Amino acid sequence: MPDRPCDGEGALAVVVGAAGMLGRAMGPALRSAGLRVAESDVGGVDITNEGSVRAGIGEDVRFVVNCAAYTDVDRAETEEAAALAVNAEGPGLLAERCREIGAALLHFSTDYVFDGRASAPYGIGEPRRALGAYGRTKAEGERRIEASGCESLIVRTSWLYAPWGKNFVRTIARLAREKPEIRVVNDQRGRPTSAEGLASSSAALLLKGERGVRHATDGGECTWFEFAGEIVRTVGAPCRVLPCSTEEFPRPAARPAYSVLDLSETEAAIGPMTDWRTALRDVVARLEP
Ligand SMILES: NC(=O)c1ccc[n+]([C@@H]2O[C@H](COP(=O)([O-])OP(=O)(O)OC[C@H]3O[C@@H](n4cnc5c(N)ncnc54)[C@H](OP(=O)(O)O)[C@@H]3O)[C@@H](O)[C@H]2O)c1
Repeated sequence: MPDRPCDGEGALAVVVGAAGMLGRAMGPALRSAGLRVAESDVGGVDITNEGSVRAGIGEDVRFVVNCAAYTDVDRAETEEAAALAVNAEGPGLLAERCREIGAALLHFSTDYVFDGRASAPYGIGEPRRALGAYGRTKAEGERRIEASGCESLIVRTSWLYAPWGKNFVRTIARLAREKPEIRVVNDQRGRPTSAEGLASSSAALLLKGERGVRHATDGGECTWFEFAGEIVRTVGAPCRVLPCSTEEFPRPAARPAYSVLDLSETEAAIGPMTDWRTALRDVVARLEP
């Protein structure tokens, strides 16, 4: 095992997929937690390329943080091989490299590993049963990390948004300024998650030594319709938000109807998650144009 600082102040973390929505939040959160951080996107470390993974993750690295992913849920239905490469084969290569150098892997997964037929929050140990290609490839990524034997923390999250990137909050804020009314599905229930809050809570879980699967989202729950209503109110636009059903807006990939993730283990370790309305207000105040 190489000589390097351990888990404390100054240990080196490499963030891959650092230009993505969550990736942009991860570096600052890890630095605030006292780590040294190197950030890289697909032009630096391509997680699907073993040579690139080995070259970009040196033996002095203590933590590898994987924010890289194939996240186009609808396109994954016709490009499952491409999604599998980034969501499962890549994490498998990262896990293998971590095992080899004795680093810990922080990886992110999704509520879409579940089918959404539950009526109570999904626990960390419930069987994975994805509805579509994206969820299947993310579930396979989890399995490959678990099978690798590396030290790992897999954080499942849901309904991610940030002041930047392609996400529901920025889309609704823009539509609310452009249109007198919008219709939003009211039969899918879950937990919104601020990417910055997730970055902080997952860094805290990692440094507390939590390992295995954990769930991290904002606190509370809502439907997309309720989420959109709160976004429009927070933005202060004169737009009416009307409820509709999933059936009225068919999309290539099926979405889980109920995807509330149970937060018990996470909240026991690092305290209660911020309520989603509070997190939303903070982000809306800083939305990038
Ligand atoms: N967004 C959500 O609502 C949501 C919900 C639940 C869970 N999650 C999970 O949360 C994590 C972060 O999601 P996100 O929304 O921040 O994703 P994102 O914005 O799509 O960012 C993913 C990043 O990965 C990069 N990437 C793609 N292929 C790569 C490769 N082979 N090597 C290195 N980097 C590569 C992308 O670069 P390019 O843009 O150049 O391709 C992009 O910068 C993912 O694990 C995702 O599955 C997201």
